[in-house]
Amino acid sequence: MDLKDLEIELNNCNQCSFRKDCISPVGWYGNPESPIVFVGEGPGGVEDEYGCPLIGPSGQLLDKALWAAKMTRDRVLATNVIKCRPKNNRTPDVAEADFCGRAWLDKELQIIQPKVIVALGGVALHYLGTSEMRITRDRGQWFRTRQGFDCIATYHPAFLLRLYGKQLVTAKWDVFHDLEMARNRAAELAPGYQFMSEEKVDLFKLFHKRSM
Ligand code: URA
Repeated sequence: MDLKDLEIELNNCNQCSFRKDCISPVGWYGNPESPIVFVGEGPGGVEDEYGCPLIGPSGQLLDKALWAAKMTRDRVLATNVIKCRPKNNRTPDVAEADFCGRAWLDKELQIIQPKVIVALGGVALHYLGTSEMRITRDRGQWFRTRQGFDCIATYHPAFLLRLYGKQLVTAKWDVFHDLEMARNRAAELAPGYQFMSEEKVDLFKLFHKRSM
């Protein structure tokens, strides 16, 4: 099975109640050959509308952080634990994340075989690591995921969007260092891989609005 086949299956998924409240599942975007994969929580409203992960406000901030760490979205791959937008954008609980993650994310990772994963925020950290892990304590440190990949966690961009002042500056630097560390490890393990294009990708030019 390749990612194309998996995408067709994902689009037909009806395995849980999230499906009825969203426009359609949101899969992954980026280069399947990428040695680095970014795993977020799940689609928000803009992601549901456009069918692209991390395209809304969080994604825009992620793109800026990636650019600073010399990566562009077309050269890496971004995805989520949860594929369907939860009603009212609520945070999925551990059981919900586990159900969707096992159904889809594990299969993506099995196909992509990334050298390095970056968990964005608590939901991804709990799914890839353990539910005892804490983003504030465990970010910036390497661990082995349940699926057998090297992973580092960093703050979710939505968390940064809620900060201001000194806290924001500190958190932004933390994210920058985490991304740099992840990129360096991936570059070591995939020598010669280009993590960056000459320009940032405008995801709104590639994806079009969809409706229920
Ligand atoms: N937050 C996420 O974690 N993923 C998205 O795709 C959008 C917002």
